[in-house]
Amino acid sequence: MRLLPLLLLVICSPWPLLQSADAGRTLAEAGAARRPRVRAVSLGGWLVTEGWVKPSLFDGIPNNDLLDGTQLQFKSVARNRYLAAEQGGGGAIVADREQPSGWETFKLWRINETTFNFRVFGNQFVGVDISGRVVATATTPGPSETFQLVRRDGDKTRVRIRAPNGLFLQAKTMDSVTADHSEDTNWGDDDPSVFVTNSVAHLQGEYQLCNGYGIRKARQVLRDHWRTFITESDFSFIASSGLNAVRIPVGWWIASDPRPPRPFVGGSLRALDNAFRWAEKYNLDIIVDLHAAPGSQNPYEHSATRDGSQEWGTRDESIAQTVQVIDFLASRYAESPSLLAVSLLNSPLAPGATLRSLTKYYRLGYDAVRRHTRTAYVVMPARLAADDTELLGFAGRFSRAVLDVHYYNLFSAARSIASPPTRTSTS
Ligand SMILES: *[C@@H]1O[C@H](CO)[C@@H](O)[C@H](O)[C@H]1NC(C)=O
Repeated sequence: MRLLPLLLLVICSPWPLLQSADAGRTLAEAGAARRPRVRAVSLGGWLVTEGWVKPSLFDGIPNNDLLDGTQLQFKSVARNRYLAAEQGGGGAIVADREQPSGWETFKLWRINETTFNFRVFGNQFVGVDISGRVVATATTPGPSETFQLVRRDGDKTRVRIRAPNGLFLQAKTMDSVTADHSEDTNWGDDDPSVFVTNSVAHLQGEYQLCNGYGIRKARQVLRDHWRTFITESDFSFIASSGLNAVRIPVGWWIASDPRPPRPFVGGSLRALDNAFRWAEKYNLDIIVDLHAAPGSQNPYEHSATRDGSQEWGTRDESIAQTVQVIDFLASRYAESPSLLAVSLLNSPLAPGATLRSLTKYYRLGYDAVRRHTRTAYVVMPARLAADDTELLGFAGRFSRAVLDVHYYNLFSAARSIASPPTRTSTS
């Protein structure tokens, strides 16, 4: 029983190939003074939630199939057509599409178990204008972009959508959707306020878990998970199994523990402190890995994205904020003999994470680590979906820097740096 999490981690978390950019030495060789070679396991799904690692974490969330980032398509039963945001957003919502695709897909922002904002392809939010027409024009959601999903008893896929004015959306014609249907319904195929939903994608990351439960319950669920999923006996087992290091993914909100911004909850810092204590006791090294950066550096759930959008690095503020997180981690653990490395950013995805913003950040992040320690390695992960070697020259200019590339050779026959095997693949 106790072995299960570790086993999962060994199998499912491909350890990135570590190649020191420092005079061509491998990280293993450089660390040889103390130990012959780094043989590490990544403790994925512990301090940064990844639903596939432990799906049961989500079991207690009401309407847990309607979490942040869930992508829904709505077919009007009366019109037998899908709702669409014309041009992907910026104008009207219509009900005339025979086949659903991007413009017919709506991403949820969850307010509570029944109340949501709907984000369209072009990132606008669905709302109701003053004439009662349903449009997708708002760039941030407010009260007129807040809807209630009412599910039919006994058939969760059949829904009605209650607008802020208390009335229901209906597709009276194919050309427009209006917020003016009364409460009455027979849920029949002739009712223009009834829609059948397809759920085409979902995310199960830290954002979904915390916002799904709400702060109080999320704190309880996560503290339980942090306390039990990886324990001191796992560190003892890891050490006795011939490994000599662990990689620990953390999220940016750990730097504002115990009271991080909503919806994240505090407590992972204490778990990381414990990990250092155990690592020191069992003579293991730790690679602290910033796995989720503010704004999200990739669209996968393990970057703690709300809805799959990737905004890290698009503004200097997110870079500055991320450097502060690195500074915090380096300063806190610099004195620990177990601090082997700080990894600056897991799996930044090209082209959203630009080479320019990434190298700017790596330079600043490197300096932040060096302010506190001259010996810890600084890991600079390569961009997913880009040339693995593009950072080789850059990283080579720093002392004790490590280029991190991910080979997913356990998951598919083909090497898949350019296209990770699934949207939810871990790194
Ligand atoms: C959800 O939020 C809406 C809007 O703020 C509120 O009217 C409703 O009572 C809430 N429902 C629950 C179950 O908390």
